[in-house]
Amino acid sequence: SAIRPLVAGNWKMNGMRDSLAQIKHVSESSALAISNAEALICVPATLLHSAAVMTAGTPLRIGAQNCHHEEDGAYTGDISAGMIADSLGSHAIVGHSERRLVYRECDASVRSKAAAAHKASLTAIICIGETEEERIGDRTLEVLRCQLAGSVPDGATAANTVIAYEPIWAIGTGRTPSIADIAAAHAFIRAELSGRFNGEGDRMRLLYGGSVKPSNAAGILEIDHVNGALVGGASLMAADYLAICAAC
Ligand code: G3H
Repeated sequence: SAIRPLVAGNWKMNGMRDSLAQIKHVSESSALAISNAEALICVPATLLHSAAVMTAGTPLRIGAQNCHHEEDGAYTGDISAGMIADSLGSHAIVGHSERRLVYRECDASVRSKAAAAHKASLTAIICIGETEEERIGDRTLEVLRCQLAGSVPDGATAANTVIAYEPIWAIGTGRTPSIADIAAAHAFIRAELSGRFNGEGDRMRLLYGGSVKPSNAAGILEIDHVNGALVGGASLMAADYLAICAAC
């Protein structure tokens, strides 16, 4: 059967308490109620519990943007997967390129974070994607193979894992790969996952991320093996986020 698409918003380091009105608006929207997509917004940790309580019983899920790999301990400033689950979050993004680049998170660290998310019964959204230099050097698929092998833990299933392909040069730039390039990357990721996880890999959701907006969403979401989107900037505006859900 067809894979139900997931539209995951990532607010990054944006959103004060008054932004909860956006969450409320999205969760109550009739556009969301009739959308074919599963809807998720990953908010800053400060808003996680309030947003999750506010949206309980609605079609909108609430997630986090990162988690620590340990369950607890002396890790000042960090948040465990169990804390996210305890705050009623359902998903955690791990290995976003901003964390890989700015905080030097490596594949091994991303893999242990994803495993920690699984242990806490969260769905891990594991991000991968090439730099512009790697793309120009024709190394995209090689980079994706390496990141998949290194970042996806052995316990990954279609239920507990989502892979987000985000070409780094397409994030927040307004630039996107061609439809053919997205199709080639997603077909490659699918083949890698199916090879390693068999039927689970066949059914794992693959999201495209990088400058998704209402005007390009439909064209991207209809590509084979694109099972939704990871949306940054456009997820900050309820109307744009809802329009992307409606495009599914
Ligand atoms: O997690 C989301 C991505 O980094 C994409 O961000 O939609 O602002 O390009 P963007």
